[in-house]
Amino acid sequence: MELSQIEKDFLKEIEKVESLEELQTLKVKYLGRKGALTQILRSLKELSLEERRKIGKEANLLKEKMEKLFLEKEKILKEIEERKKLEREKVDLTCPGKKISLGHLHPLSLVLREIKEIFRRMGFEVVEGPEIETCFYNFDALNVPEDHPARDLWSTLWLEKNYLLRTHTSPVQVRYLEKHQPPFRIIAPGRVFRHERTDAHHEIQFYQVEGLMVGKDVSLANFKAVILHFFKEFFKEKVEIRLRPSYFPFTEPSVEVDIRLSAKRKAQSAKEGEWLEVMGAGMVHPKVFEAARLNPLRWQGFAFGVGVDRLAMIKYKIPDIRLFYQGDLRFIRQF
Ligand code: PHE
Repeated sequence: MELSQIEKDFLKEIEKVESLEELQTLKVKYLGRKGALTQILRSLKELSLEERRKIGKEANLLKEKMEKLFLEKEKILKEIEERKKLEREKVDLTCPGKKISLGHLHPLSLVLREIKEIFRRMGFEVVEGPEIETCFYNFDALNVPEDHPARDLWSTLWLEKNYLLRTHTSPVQVRYLEKHQPPFRIIAPGRVFRHERTDAHHEIQFYQVEGLMVGKDVSLANFKAVILHFFKEFFKEKVEIRLRPSYFPFTEPSVEVDIRLSAKRKAQSAKEGEWLEVMGAGMVHPKVFEAARLNPLRWQGFAFGVGVDRLAMIKYKIPDIRLFYQGDLRFIRQF
């Protein structure tokens, strides 16, 4: 009989099916609108009643059987495909990791971070001021009058009107003094600008860290203790310091601070035991307190300004300040 042939063929074929796609094709072939079994069911009406009953029943049984087998096969195939997918996605934990290339901190950033950390540990707050300044904060309030020759100590890059690119971080002293009541201790790191010819030791931009500590009896002795500790931490060794008399309009007395490192740390250009000039400092001038409307008879303190590039050059034995600003990765990656 035709039905049994259909069943035989079907069983053979479904056995060989290997994918859900093939299974779908087979389903259409047997149970689809033009499928083998469907055609038999359709042709039933041409048969006698008796035959119709008999064959109709058998055909329906076969149809049910097929549907069941399709479902079973589908379940199995789905499981196999799932397993294959997991196999493909398997993670080999022993594989060496893919290296993600991260950015790199600039030597000046590294040094700035370190400086901030050291001063924070000594109770200094870190504050910032603007790079574009007014004449008032950069000069006038710091006791550098309009036509005073001392103004030429800072070769200035002028902007429009009263504005300029700050030539030092000292204006932050005034900005802070105006808004805070002593006692306090702060540092103010940041970029400064000078209209200068560049060479191995001069750039038109560089970094300074300003320091300011004000109280009832803050003295130069306190200053010495603070910076001795700072240099010791920064260079990770005992550093000798020397204060030389100097001149700044906003400090009185004013000093220049030199340091001397052991032979193993000395700068490339320095002969052994040579003194290196690294910062300007002094006791805050009464006129500066007055400009910020504080009473100089009540308050006193020290201020300093240290060149960050210079410290980085000494620490890492960098021969030319311009290397910091050229963006050459071969240089940057060494730190
Ligand atoms: N602002 C001075 C400079 O740029 C340095 C300095 C800061 C000196 C604070 C004394 C006190 O040269």
